[in-house]
Amino acid sequence: MNSQPLGIFDSGVGGLTVVKAVQGLLPHESIVYLGDTARVPYGSKSPETIRHFADQNVRFLLSKGVKAIVVACNTASAHALSDLQKNHNIPIIGVIEPGVDAALAEPSCQRVGIIATRGTIRSHAYQHALALRRPDLLILEQSAPLLAPLVEENWIDHPATIEALKTYLQPLLDRGMDTLLLACTHYPLLIPTLQSVLGPGIRLVDSATTCAQHLQTHLASLDLLAENASPTFDLFLTDLHEQFELLAQRFLASGPIKAARVELS
Ligand code: DGL
Repeated sequence: MNSQPLGIFDSGVGGLTVVKAVQGLLPHESIVYLGDTARVPYGSKSPETIRHFADQNVRFLLSKGVKAIVVACNTASAHALSDLQKNHNIPIIGVIEPGVDAALAEPSCQRVGIIATRGTIRSHAYQHALALRRPDLLILEQSAPLLAPLVEENWIDHPATIEALKTYLQPLLDRGMDTLLLACTHYPLLIPTLQSVLGPGIRLVDSATTCAQHLQTHLASLDLLAENASPTFDLFLTDLHEQFELLAQRFLASGPIKAARVELS
């Protein structure tokens, strides 16, 4: 069982930020990644639709023999995680608790901005989880629906992306934000651009590293950590595009990656 792969899914490229963190912390784990590129973005869809997509994604990963699953999508974690955990008999972890841990790791933070898809912001999942642990925090929510599509397009530092970031972030800056929580797994790919737009003094946090840590703790507690000498990385997409393979190779600093197309049912 231990040598079986981990399953990780997202609507598109965003979950690769979690893959990178998992590969860094758990280098002996094999990974099966599913990007639901035919149906991205998830952020604009209804909670019912997201739950349906997430369930199909989990069933596909189970068919690949995975031993545990990471929902590397905030929108799917916000709307579907508890149902997935109820309906499937396998460890399934999401990215919201890890994101909250990352934000609260610095006890001096007072004003936390959250940027995410419309679906994640509408769920208020982060706001609730943060307020539960730090009722004194000022929490500033901002949906940023254009950002995930811009990242899917690989427009990382395009003038249109810079303009969109300035528009989304100005209201948070006006209210004195000291920490910005990147509550969408696509956004860490924008970190260099974000840093240049925000300048120094604002702490940027995302859930990728803390998610990998949660996963490590969880797998260790179940005695499920792998010791594969040659771990594999398999990439499945619901719609193929070359851009994705190139972005994955560059971002994961890996050799050629070949995606396979999959039809979900
Ligand atoms: N990466 C996803 C998230 O974390 C969603 C982007 C999208 O599909 O809208 O929310």
